[in-house]
Amino acid sequence: MNLKFLVLGATLLTAISVTAEEGVTVNLYPSKDAPTINKEIYGQFAEHLGTCIYGGIWVGENSPIPNTNGYRNDVLEAFRALHIPVLRWPGGCFADEYHWEDGIGPKENRPRMVNNNWGGTVEDNSFGTHEFFNLCEMLGIEPYLSGNVGSGTVEELANWIEYITAEDGPQAQLRKQNGREKPWHLKYLGVGNESWGCGGSFTPEYYADVYRRYQTYCRNFNGNKLYKIASGASDYDYNWTEVLMKKAANRMDGISLHYYTVAGWSGSKGAATKFSDEDYYWTLGKCLEIESVIKEHMRIMDKYDSKKRVGLMVDEWGTWWDEEPGTIKGHLYQQNTMRDAMVAALSLNIFHNLTERVKMANIAQIANVLQSMVLTKDKQMVLTPTYYVFKMYVPHQDATLIPLTLNTPYRMVRANRLVPTISATASQKDGIVTISLTNIDLTKPCEVEIPLKDIKFSKVSGEILTAADIHDYNDFGAPEKVTLKPFDKAKVSKDVLRLTLPAKSIVTISLH
Ligand code: AHR
Repeated sequence: MNLKFLVLGATLLTAISVTAEEGVTVNLYPSKDAPTINKEIYGQFAEHLGTCIYGGIWVGENSPIPNTNGYRNDVLEAFRALHIPVLRWPGGCFADEYHWEDGIGPKENRPRMVNNNWGGTVEDNSFGTHEFFNLCEMLGIEPYLSGNVGSGTVEELANWIEYITAEDGPQAQLRKQNGREKPWHLKYLGVGNESWGCGGSFTPEYYADVYRRYQTYCRNFNGNKLYKIASGASDYDYNWTEVLMKKAANRMDGISLHYYTVAGWSGSKGAATKFSDEDYYWTLGKCLEIESVIKEHMRIMDKYDSKKRVGLMVDEWGTWWDEEPGTIKGHLYQQNTMRDAMVAALSLNIFHNLTERVKMANIAQIANVLQSMVLTKDKQMVLTPTYYVFKMYVPHQDATLIPLTLNTPYRMVRANRLVPTISATASQKDGIVTISLTNIDLTKPCEVEIPLKDIKFSKVSGEILTAADIHDYNDFGAPEKVTLKPFDKAKVSKDVLRLTLPAKSIVTISLH
């Protein structure tokens, strides 16, 4: 059976069932030939921005906040449960003004710096290379280093790689003097960030040449093999991808893409916690548009790399709302409601389907910035609704995708966007089939049937994330308003799984 054809055919079918009022059937097509969902799609991003690093992750060894070697214990525990595969650092825009040598050696000797991109906050450089790589090592995370191309030099970046990965030589000696004998492992290297904007305002032609030059001196030391990622396009800038692929595809392993879900119709980004029903549906339409944007970038990449060797790394994505009133301007601190959870689930579903080209995605950002996993305030921490989606989806990491079709109803929203009410993704790993379903409708539950003829299992379990109100969020006074709950309403009879998917809910079913 040609699965690609089948899925395409089903897409056409679903597109005409706009007015379907009856239940939804999800058909699963397990296949040994289906791709593995790259676990790196569950990547995170930590920038020196607001309180993401300082206060959010790092409080220093002498802090009254319980910590392990300076990292907050509550946050460490929360991160562990997400099985974070990869963490991008130190930016973002910050990366192109970061000089790594300021962040090594005895902390009392490290110079202070002004974070010009993000509110002019003065930082003491107490979180630097050692603190980042040790964090990754402690949590079993693959580090993803963003190199400074905008305001740095080729030599500076070359030395940084040598400092991190060489067994011997002047940079390795310096590292050893600073207390780290063995090199660290470094796979992912970003050569600049948003080089069309905060990373240097380059033209694509000029950046392509600069990229070629920089990557030449990013060496592989002692068996460490770098995966080099060119700074890619934003949203709909297809020309950037075209030029980069044409001029430098043979010298890169990946190219990035940034796409944020913003409430762009009103001129402002919109408030995180105050939005109308129409705003909500429009936002989800904007979120889903990432699929056509990625596909257009993929189409261009295919022209120069038909074998899909070069990965498309969506290394910044997520919601971007107005900063919370009363917070520091430029710190991008925003709340996170059940609407954000929907954006997370829908985006991850899309990345699953495009996993053959999308080799990594990094939600922005891990703590206290934009669509965060955790929010902290002094000693307190809350887990966001988005955190719970990532937790619920852990079984999909590195699992084999199960292609599926479904006959969802659609909703027409502002600007003639058609938004599917029901979305789903499924995968299998270690004998467990995991099916995640999303109902974005604010009022109507949906009856779902899933034929399971070809699937062997003896036990069904489930989890649900929903909220009394789509505007609900977790805050320091009420940290558990939106949390994962067990879901035991899925029943199997005659090889068909049936459940009622509540309004505004995300459900994951496991077949063991
Ligand atoms: O994630 C916040 C900022 O958004 C990043 O620093 C930058 O790369 C992007 O514009």
